[in-house]
Amino acid sequence: MTRWTRRGLLKTATFAGATGVGLSAIGRLGSLAAASPEPVVLQTAKIQARLMDIGPTNNVLTYGNAGMPPVLRMKKGEPFAARLVNAIDDPTTIHWHGIRLPNKMDGVPFLVQPYVYTGDHFDYAFTPPDAGTFWYHPHCNTLEQMGHGLTGMIVVENPNDPKFDAEFVLNLRDWRLGDDGQFIDQFRPRDAARTGTYGTVRTANWLDQPQYDAPAGGLVRLRVAITDVTRIHAFRVDGAEAMVMALDGNPVPDRFAPDALLLGPGQRMDLAIRMPDDEGAIVSLRDVRGTKPKVLATLRATGNSLKRDVRDVAPLEVNPVAEVDLGSAQHISLSLSATAENVPSDSICGSLGYSFWAINKVPWPGDPTAPLAELKLGRSYVIDMENLTPQSHPMHLHGMSFKVLSSSTRPVQPLISDTYLVQPNEKVSLGFVADNPGDWLLHCHIIEHQKSGMTSYVRVV
Ligand code: C2O
Ligand code: CU
Repeated sequence: MTRWTRRGLLKTATFAGATGVGLSAIGRLGSLAAASPEPVVLQTAKIQARLMDIGPTNNVLTYGNAGMPPVLRMKKGEPFAARLVNAIDDPTTIHWHGIRLPNKMDGVPFLVQPYVYTGDHFDYAFTPPDAGTFWYHPHCNTLEQMGHGLTGMIVVENPNDPKFDAEFVLNLRDWRLGDDGQFIDQFRPRDAARTGTYGTVRTANWLDQPQYDAPAGGLVRLRVAITDVTRIHAFRVDGAEAMVMALDGNPVPDRFAPDALLLGPGQRMDLAIRMPDDEGAIVSLRDVRGTKPKVLATLRATGNSLKRDVRDVAPLEVNPVAEVDLGSAQHISLSLSATAENVPSDSICGSLGYSFWAINKVPWPGDPTAPLAELKLGRSYVIDMENLTPQSHPMHLHGMSFKVLSSSTRPVQPLISDTYLVQPNEKVSLGFVADNPGDWLLHCHIIEHQKSGMTSYVRVV
């Protein structure tokens, strides 16, 4: 069933041990140690957390001992290392969503790395080439593990970033809890076949409508990620002037105010907000999608006005993503559809046991066995993707960033991204250079869709 055996895993662990020795022998291996920084330890844990007033929720999962997974700070172009230690009774891995890194570090079990079993560890090491807002999560039994808490934020800093008076990071996600504050079924099949099953409790940084203080009249950078397994958001900011500076980690060529900006699971936005001048004034970030608009978080102005101007925020540096060559690009057609055929594949990596969705008419199992396409290293490609379903799908490509070239239903900016929210009946063209060798997943980030057929991968050789 799996090509990764316990034996393969031990080999990895031994290699990791050797790196540890190198780190402690700093005098002798000085240069080596400098190349591999002290790893951040991310240990999975089952904890209690207060997500509802009624009392603590049991069986919450996190990295660390308590509360939300830590916000990881990395520096563009500088090596980062993390050791995943698995202390829960379920195999796991970490995927670094949106970060372009070597295939072996991508965290997809069976495709690029072995499972990390209970009591074992895995060492991740890579150098993020791009600055921006990213996030991390497991890629095993994801509905359960992410649903119970394993979604964390990543900030990749660039020393040349414009300066702000304050910065906040918001991890937006829901929880499926009953009235007693305890977890209920993670999904309902009939919902999985539609929009996905929504959470019952909504949080920002594991809190209900947190409020943060920021200097009056000051400039705030608000980094937001939707790490929820299901919910698409339509963002608005009220009470202040706000501009979308970056989407999915990359600068937006033409900044705009978020006026019901639709983003799906996996996506990020960086906002520049100019706080009101009056002490005590409130700025709110809202999700206005659907029938129950929701205030997600608020900012409160404090002190005397700094009297800044949002137009003074310098542009963000463009990330070094290769430019797609449209003249020579080969086109790959992808259709997203529902499937009638129900192949309840008992996958090794947490399938739902149903298939509702298909890419190019194939309901892919959780453990893909053949690539959707084989791409030539260094060549340009355009994915022409058509959504034949009545639902929206945030389609995510691992390992490479694409440029949004055109949409059949709306004007688009030439955004660089890793996740595109395809609307019903929309046909979109995404161009990229296949410059990262390996097997890279392409899947819907509504996890129930991913786990019931809407996943596949491309191979770059
Ligand atoms: Cu956010 Cu395949 O991942
Ligand atoms: Cu989907």
